[in-house]
Parts: sequence; C-alpha cells; structure tokens
Amino acid sequence: MDTLAISKPVRFLKGGQVHTLQRVSPTRTLLEVLREDLHCTGTKEGCGEGDCGACTVVVGELQDGKLKTQAVNSCIKLAHSLDGMALWTVEDLATPGGSMHPAQSALAQHHGSQCGFCTPGFVMSLAALAEQHPKSAINREAASHALSGNLCRCTGYRPILDAAQAMAQLPRQPLDTPDVRRGLRALAQVAQAEAAALAPTKPSAKRAAKPPMGGYASPTDLATLLALRQAYPAAQLVAGCTDVGLWITKQHREFAQVLDLTRVQELRKIDDYPHHIAIGAAVNLTQAFGALVAQRPQLQSFAQRFAGLPVRNAGTLGGNVANGSPIGDSMPLLIALGANVVLASQSGYREMPMEDLYLAYRKTAMRADEVLGWIKVPKPQPAPRPKARGKAQAAPGELCRVYKISKRFEDDISAVCLALNLRLEGGRVLSASIGVGGVAATPVRARATQAALAGQPWNAATVRIAMATLRAEFSPISDMRATGAYRREVLGNLLWRYWLESQGSIATDLQSLTPQGVQP
Ligand SMILES: Cc1cc2nc3c(=O)[nH]c(=O)nc-3n(C[C@H](O)[C@H](O)[C@H](O)COP(=O)(O)OP(=O)(O)OC[C@H]3O[C@@H](n4cnc5c(N)ncnc54)[C@H](O)[C@@H]3O)c2cc1C
Ligand code: FES
Ligand code: FES
Repeated sequence: MDTLAISKPVRFLKGGQVHTLQRVSPTRTLLEVLREDLHCTGTKEGCGEGDCGACTVVVGELQDGKLKTQAVNSCIKLAHSLDGMALWTVEDLATPGGSMHPAQSALAQHHGSQCGFCTPGFVMSLAALAEQHPKSAINREAASHALSGNLCRCTGYRPILDAAQAMAQLPRQPLDTPDVRRGLRALAQVAQAEAAALAPTKPSAKRAAKPPMGGYASPTDLATLLALRQAYPAAQLVAGCTDVGLWITKQHREFAQVLDLTRVQELRKIDDYPHHIAIGAAVNLTQAFGALVAQRPQLQSFAQRFAGLPVRNAGTLGGNVANGSPIGDSMPLLIALGANVVLASQSGYREMPMEDLYLAYRKTAMRADEVLGWIKVPKPQPAPRPKARGKAQAAPGELCRVYKISKRFEDDISAVCLALNLRLEGGRVLSASIGVGGVAATPVRARATQAALAGQPWNAATVRIAMATLRAEFSPISDMRATGAYRREVLGNLLWRYWLESQGSIATDLQSLTPQGVQP
C-alpha cells in the first residue's frame, strides 16, 4: 500500500492560522515545505546541513500547559516532526499593525542587518532569546550563546551582538499568547480524536494485528514505539534528526518510512535516582547537558561547544550515543563517567556499559528490534576522605575533565576528545576512568592508560608514564581534521594539561580565556 496515502496530515500553527498539509513525504524537510509549499521565502537555505543558521525558525509546543519555544534549523528538521506544534518564521514576528519585533528593530537600529541570507536566521535566534529570557538576563554572553549556531562571514558579529543587548531596552513582544496556547490545545484535541478513531476496538484485534504505520509515525508511548520497531525493522528510526537530516539533504537518501521517537513520554524525562540520573533517549542535548552540568559544573564550557544551540535544541543525547560516530563528543565523557545504556525491545530490557555498545565502525550491539531507551549516568561519588584541591576538584573525590580539540571553538566536530575521571586520595590514584574519541573506529575506553595510573602516586613521573601509554594505546587515522601523529601527540599533551590543572594551574585552561580576560 502507498504509505503516503495512509500517512497522517501535518498540522501546525503559523501566523495565527492552522496549516494542514496532506501527503507529505516522510523525508521532506520543514525548509522545503516553508519555501516551496507555503512560499514563505523569508527563511533561507545556506548550507542545508545545520551549520550556518540561515534557516533558523522558532518552534513551540505545550509542555505541562506552558508554551516551550526553541530555535531550530529548518533545513534538517523533518516536516512531519512539526505536527501539532506552533511555528514562527521571520514573516510572523511583526504585529498585524506592522510593529517590528524587538529583534528586528534592534538589528535595524544597530546596523546588524548585513546580508539577506543570514539576517533572517539571526532575527529568529534573537527572537528566541527575547522569548526565553527576562530582559535583565539578555547580556552579551547570553546573546553569543543564542547566536552560536548562526554564522556570518561578512562584516562580523559586533553590530549583531550590540543589537542583541539593545533588545533589552525595547518593549517586549511575546510569541507566547493566549491565542497560540488555545490553538495548540485545539490541535492536540484533533490529534487525540484521530488517534481514537484509528485505535482497534476489539481487544483480540489489538493483539493479533500488525500495528499500522504510514510513511511517518511518531508514537507517544513506549509500548507503541517498540511494537512499531519490531513490526517495521526497515523504518528509519529518528530522534532529533541532526545526523539523519544530513543523510537526506547531503546524501539524498530517501526513507519510505520514518519512526520518530521524540514524542514518547517515557523517553522525554530525566529521572533522578540516589546514585545516578537516567536520561531518556528523547531528551534533547540542551536539557541533557543541563542535567550533566548540574552534577558537574566544570562541564559547562564543553557542553556549549557541542554544535550550536539550534542543533542542541533538536538533537538528542540518545541520538549521539546510538549513532556511534567515533568522533561523537558525548561518548568519551559518558564512558569516563561510567555510564550505562539501557536498550529496550518488546522482549524486555538490556543494560550494558556504554563502551560495550560499540562493536566496530558505526556498528553497535543494538538489535533491529531494539531502541536505546535511557543513558544512566552515575552521580559524583564522594571519596572516603575528600581532599579538595582548589577549583580543579569540582566534586569531592573525583577529578573529571573533558577536552575537545577542534578547528573552530563552537559548532565544530572534534579531531580528538579526551575525558578523564580520576579519583584521588592521599596523593594516590584510587581509580582512573578514561574515554577517548577520534582515535579508533568507535569511541573507546583507554584501558591500558587506566591501568598505568590506578594505584600509582599522583605525580609528574606517573603522568609522564601514562602519557606515553596513552599515545601508544591507539593508532588514530589521518583525515581532514588531523593527522594520526597530531592526534597521538595531542592526547598525551591533554593528559599533561589535566595534571597541571589538578595542581591548580588555571593558566592552562584556554577555554576560560576571553577577550575580556580570564573567566572564573
Ligand atoms: C551543525 C552540526 C553540528 C554538530 N556538532 C556536533 C558536535 O559538536 N559533536 C557531536 O558529537 N555531534 C555533533 N553533531 C551531530 C549530531 O548533532 C549529534 O550526533 C546528535 O546528538 C544526534 O542526535 P539526533 O537526536 O539528532 O539523532 P538522529 O539524527 O535522529 O539519529 C542519529 C542516529 O541514531 C539513531 N537513533 C537515534 N535515537 C535512537 C534511539 N533512541 N535508539 C536507537 N537508535 C537511535 C538513528 O536511527 C540514527 O541512526 C552535529 C550535527 C550538526 C548538524
Ligand atoms: S541552511 Fe545552514 S543551517 Fe540550515
Ligand atoms: S550577515 Fe550574511 S555573511 Fe554576514
């Protein structure tokens, strides 16, 4: 049967109107729908791969009755994923009376409107910033985080950052209005009525039938997700689509069926347990890193270096882990923290240390009927007799650091990523846990280096030996990001930097250096 014919329509709220699109292909992007179907050409295509921000739009959904808005890249967002949501593009910001949004007025007043490709994206990122923060919190730092996914290659960022700060002086023009919330509630009711009409009436039919699936399915509960995963193993599973989106836009891959897990309620939460947190696979990177940083504040700058904000708003930690790229950033850290993954299928759950998930290049231990359900991250463990050493020791007993080496500071993929988590006591290494990316076909645990450190005195001589072990432990390849020799060299250097930081030498922490000076 034609999967498109049985696909649900895509309904969303934009500019005060409900838009209903029929027979939308599962791999059609939101940007294509905007420009080609709705003729809203204010949103531009620059790179088509989530890098430049020209296509930034703001999406909103109701969560616990409140409107949650975020900036995302429409070029790699699938149109179906917008179903039931509110959307704002650059055409929707001015009031019906023609008053510009503060983001627009401020950019115009401060000469921040530079070229026609990037400006709509800058406007939308700033509109999201204005929407999500009180005026008092809109400063240069907040603006530069909000714009971390927007590239400008002409006259630079200064007037844009000036405009961002100036927004705080202008009257607010909120996107969150009672009309929008009413409209979203009405869309939710339509979706519920449709789901009820499709639900099997006889319990026997429910047990026997293969669950129906059109071109795009976005189940809201885990049981349905697992049933669809089992019944349609060839359907392309997606979460935030920030990896898969590029397979579509750059490799021109088509998928007849797409199974989207981002609405599964059980996977949208971060659960807090006495000794660990469990991050659901549908939790986006912004929230997941927020939870990791709450446990270990020293991870803040690393979290901000993962892609740019719109990618972190759409992408999930689960997608990063499941994709299993050898240069994925979260896995070295999660391996060093001793994280486990929980795989779910209709036959039950399996739990394993994260490093055991990876079998070979882009090959994981996950079966075709399984999904990654949760990532369990141990909380910082207090040592028996903690001995804090200045700022370097963020949690008692453990010294956790992660270093990302990439060509650009933000919005770039690692050449090498090294995460170290040592427990030190009485001048000795109680235990060492080390995750590495960019040096092998998968993210890996540095077992030989761990062995070289565990039980040894924590001094320069031990570190020198461990540096040599770390450099010899892997045979990284040479590619466009770095040569194998560079990767090996830098690995050892990062371990030395970790040692210096453990001695309170903050001068080596380049990430805390800003044009204004050293950030505390
Ligand atoms: C501009 C840009 C910058 C980026 N920067 C970085 C960076 O700095 N560091 C970095 O590591 N990555 C980066 N990425 C890659 C990407 O954003 C991350 O890998 C992201 O975490 C993927 O999550 P997702 O939810 O978008 O996954 P998707 O694209 O939806 O899925 C990726 C893969 O994982 C599978 N998958 C997803 N969820 C599950 C699940 N629960 N169970 C089983 N399989 C699943 C999918 O089937 C697919 O094969 C960047 C991407 C872009 C576009
Ligand atoms: S077009 Fe460049 S990020 Fe979408
Ligand atoms: S605003 Fe487009 S390149 Fe600078």
